[in-house]
Amino acid sequence: LVLILDFGSQYTHLITRRIRSLSVFSLCIFCTSPLSSITSLNPKVVILSGGPHSVHADDSPSFADGFVEWAQSNGVFVLGICYGLHLLVQRLGGEVRVGEKQEYGRMEIEVEKSCGIFGGKKVGDRQVVWMSHGDEAATLPNGFEVVARSQQGAVAAVEDKYRRFYGLQYHPEVTHSPEGMETLRSLFEVCGVNAGWKTEDVMDEEIKVINNMVVPDDHVICALSGGIDSTVAATLVHKAIGDRLHCVFVDNGLLRYKERERVMETFERDLHLPVTCVDATEQFLKLENNAFAKELENNLGKKPAFLVQGTLYPDVIESCPPPGTGRTHSHTIKSHHNVGALPKDMKLKLIEPLKLLFKDEVRQLGRILTVPYSFLKRHPFPGPGLAVRVLGDVTEDNALDTLRRVDEIFIQSIKDAGIYDSIWQAFAVFLPVKSVGVQGDQRTHSHVVAFLAVTSQDGMTSDWYHFEREFLDDVVQKICNNVRGVNRVALDITSKPPSTIEWE
Ligand code: XMP
Repeated sequence: LVLILDFGSQYTHLITRRIRSLSVFSLCIFCTSPLSSITSLNPKVVILSGGPHSVHADDSPSFADGFVEWAQSNGVFVLGICYGLHLLVQRLGGEVRVGEKQEYGRMEIEVEKSCGIFGGKKVGDRQVVWMSHGDEAATLPNGFEVVARSQQGAVAAVEDKYRRFYGLQYHPEVTHSPEGMETLRSLFEVCGVNAGWKTEDVMDEEIKVINNMVVPDDHVICALSGGIDSTVAATLVHKAIGDRLHCVFVDNGLLRYKERERVMETFERDLHLPVTCVDATEQFLKLENNAFAKELENNLGKKPAFLVQGTLYPDVIESCPPPGTGRTHSHTIKSHHNVGALPKDMKLKLIEPLKLLFKDEVRQLGRILTVPYSFLKRHPFPGPGLAVRVLGDVTEDNALDTLRRVDEIFIQSIKDAGIYDSIWQAFAVFLPVKSVGVQGDQRTHSHVVAFLAVTSQDGMTSDWYHFEREFLDDVVQKICNNVRGVNRVALDITSKPPSTIEWE
């Protein structure tokens, strides 16, 4: 295991995923986790991530006391990246100062000493890397040596051969450091880390856990949403316990156009999972508290003991908030309904077989479990459904129906244009504002809708999808001509950050 201590870098999740792409299992935990959380995971390598702080700030985060001694006496390799390097240097008695010149973006570094971290690299070799720092290591702790420097003379890589501690000032995990992954790979070789991990290992492990947890008389319930996460979760649990799994598709009245019919048909035809459809539209639209969990508990004849959820790793991952922002780490955990909104007194115990996986890994697992391609390629759809896409009162102004019709035209046009699979997510938003228009020689005062499409790897960051002008002309015309009550259409071209994907 390679364990990442998250000091708040925007790249921390990327490090975790990129290491997994080297077939090495990696997990990421909060930087101030107690030493016992770190030691209980028994990692071979611990990476101290970058972060937005300076080690000189009063409230800058650090690792637990005793961490360095534990790593040294147990032969655990430690790699500090950027802030992680500064922290290692400072805590071991070296000095970090504000750099004379700050280094941001593409830089060249030169290897000065042959060393473990650069594997086969020779002294004098140069490579392009991505830097993003203001502080720099000025004096190194005893035992450390500089092994590479930037063009500006700043320390770019250090190592303490005896203690097996390493540091990189740049970010090897970003694609702008073209040799960064090779550097990590050679470091893992030096550390003797096994590179045989596969997504299937998580599946095998989860099946074992589920079989130990669910005794023969227990029943398990899974709420399918029609999306990839709950579908893959259900298929995996079905593989483990067979027909003791009961799947329910809850129509909460906040689904897209004809979603219920389409999803039920696909479940029956392609997935062969036993699914019951429950119509809970009324309870949801009356905003009854905990309607979701109540419906699940009420609608199964047998008393279920467990609830399966398709929670993914980014939903549960803990991350370190920058100090001084007043944020606690719970703010960084998404407020999604599958993580936060189950009733406190719910009797069902949770099974979350995907909780260690990223979205692309879930897709891969889906392929292994032979979930049909049509499911695996579906755009994500949020648990609260269209409720997060109607920005005013969902029950007013025919908002849900209007939104369904706009969304259907937009998505169908995307499918017809053959670009659905190039887009992470596309949808329309119903805005609680009206504007003046002119339709059929008359002035109208009708609603404004917005629509957007984004590209993304994992939903953590996103960019807007660049449509052809003709495509946009065509969609807007179809919406205004076919959807009563809409006279203006806006296109959202904001990336994440600063926006999020859903408008909520
Ligand atoms: P944001 O809006 O946080 O979205 O950029 C990232 C991904 O998460 C989905 N999302 C949600 N999913 N309940 C969900 O189940 C929610 O409340 C929710 N909010 C956002 C969003 O659709 C995108 O794929």
